[in-house]
Amino acid sequence: MGRDVFMHSSGRTAHFLLFEIWILAIGTCGTVTITVPTELILGIVGQPLLLPVNYSTETKDQDIQITWTFQSHSSGSMLLITAINNTLTPDMEHGHRFFLSPPSATLLINPVELCDDGEYTIKVTVAGEKLTSASQQLTVHVNVPVSKPVVHSDPAWGAVEYVDNATLTCTVSEGTKVIYQWLKDGKPFRTSTRHIFSADNKMLFISPVLKDDLCNYTCVAKNPISVNESEPIAPNIYYGPYDLMVKSEPRFKISEGVFAVGKGEPVWFKCSANSNPPNVYSWFQKANNKTTPIHRGPVLNIRSEKVPEKADYMCCVYNNITGKRDETQFTVILSATGKERQKQKGSSLHSLVIIVGLSLTLIACILLYFLLRRYFPRKVITKERNYRTPTDYIRAHQVSADQEPSVEDCGIYEFVAVPEPADFPQVPPDKLSTVYDIIRVPDIHTVYDVICQTPKTS
Ligand SMILES: *[C@@H]1O[C@H](CO)[C@@H](O)[C@H](O)[C@H]1NC(C)=O
Ligand SMILES: *[C@@H]1O[C@H](CO)[C@@H](O)[C@H](O)[C@H]1NC(C)=O
Ligand SMILES: *[C@@H]1O[C@H](CO)[C@@H](O)[C@H](O)[C@H]1NC(C)=O
Ligand SMILES: *[C@@H]1O[C@H](CO)[C@@H](O)[C@H](O)[C@H]1NC(C)=O
Ligand SMILES: *[C@@H]1O[C@H](CO)[C@@H](O)[C@H](O)[C@H]1NC(C)=O
Ligand SMILES: *[C@@H]1O[C@H](CO)[C@@H](O)[C@H](O)[C@H]1NC(C)=O
Ligand SMILES: *[C@@H]1O[C@H](CO)[C@@H](O)[C@H](O)[C@H]1NC(C)=O
Repeated sequence: MGRDVFMHSSGRTAHFLLFEIWILAIGTCGTVTITVPTELILGIVGQPLLLPVNYSTETKDQDIQITWTFQSHSSGSMLLITAINNTLTPDMEHGHRFFLSPPSATLLINPVELCDDGEYTIKVTVAGEKLTSASQQLTVHVNVPVSKPVVHSDPAWGAVEYVDNATLTCTVSEGTKVIYQWLKDGKPFRTSTRHIFSADNKMLFISPVLKDDLCNYTCVAKNPISVNESEPIAPNIYYGPYDLMVKSEPRFKISEGVFAVGKGEPVWFKCSANSNPPNVYSWFQKANNKTTPIHRGPVLNIRSEKVPEKADYMCCVYNNITGKRDETQFTVILSATGKERQKQKGSSLHSLVIIVGLSLTLIACILLYFLLRRYFPRKVITKERNYRTPTDYIRAHQVSADQEPSVEDCGIYEFVAVPEPADFPQVPPDKLSTVYDIIRVPDIHTVYDVICQTPKTS
């Protein structure tokens, strides 16, 4: 149908071009020549319409008769008006609307009516020495301009998606030979298997309707003389719920579907889903394998001191027209409040101070130790025991027994804990030459210490 429209409009353009270039339709018969600018003339009901014609004759001073006749499917053929020289003879039945002003052959119809739609013939006869005549045919299309089209959507209350069908009907109260076109959101309609047009294009069937059909539809009504466009109409389509989600303040959200809220902090959750009509919202708390309804409406406010440490909540949406529902679950975890967070911060600061203090003390002690060692050196002399003879040991033993050691006693002393004789190992006696041999024998637990005392003799 849209194609027909296109062809028709291009036809109009062609006629317009014809008009523009003044194609000459020449009726030649004898010496009379008739010229018309265009063979198709479009008339608007109620307005005057001119049927322009020129003719020429070779000779002057002769009788000239101009005759207009009309023929249509409904009324057949009839004489409209005739003039001989400058004398008009209008048809008594139709003549009151047809005007001719000889010698011009141009016919004026005022006002033009729908019944004037048809074929017109102009005939010019010249009676001189010889009788000659010429005729030319013109086509007149008379139309009523289209009024503003109105689109009705059916069912008027709305259609449920995937269930109902919808019909859009375009009507014009006035207008003849109207053809219809549809625009979807201002663009030419692309048909699909779900969209069917009636034969006259006045109606658009959508079967079944979907949410995608929720657009502005415009009906364009046109005829050869006018174009008029309807107000856009969006059919009422019930759909959803879609895109269900729960929102809260972003600072509470820790991951998808998990919110952490400080104890004592008030918190809100907003549930939203795309749906027509608006959803019915209900909230549930899930705890201990029990689902408890807690609220109705899109926004849930929670006083966090009144809720468990960790609880699951559910937002259920229900579209009471489509009968569809959806639900989403989320978890609320109680975390430290701002106050507790500060307290925690304070205590961690405290322990940090303690750690730093302890470390500093330790470092000071180590430093002190090294300083002391530096200024009060303590020389430890270890001498190879091999340098000492058993006599040294014997002497040492004697000295230790002595009450008052003499100056000569100054030297190197070594205390040796010698194991009990019974514990002496089974070393062959011949190999035991010194006490050292005993001590050195492996597996004998020997403890020895060296004390050095070097008094200065002055
Ligand atoms: C008829 O003749 C007049 C003047 O002679 C001219 O202006 C007009 O364009 C002609 N019309 C046609 C249809 O030839
Ligand atoms: C028509 O007009 C021509 C010249 O203009 C004249 O010769 C002729 O007699 C007229 N005919 C009639 C019937 O008046
Ligand atoms: C459309 O029709 C209305 C009347 O229904 C009219 O007032 C208006 O001018 C028309 N518009 C066009 C563009 O023809
Ligand atoms: C919608 O139209 C289809 C055919 O296009 C028909 O089979 C179906 O019954 C209609 N549904 C309703 C609800 O009218
Ligand atoms: C239809 O058009 C109006 C105005 O341009 C706009 O406000 C509305 O959202 C549109 N509706 C749809 C379904 O596109
Ligand atoms: C359906 O839900 C809407 C919006 O919540 C409400 O206004 C309407 O009364 C409900 N209709 C029925 C039949 O429950
Ligand atoms: C929850 O309750 C249902 C029915 O009352 C039961 O079958 C299920 O095992 C329970 N689940 C837990 C985790 O207690």
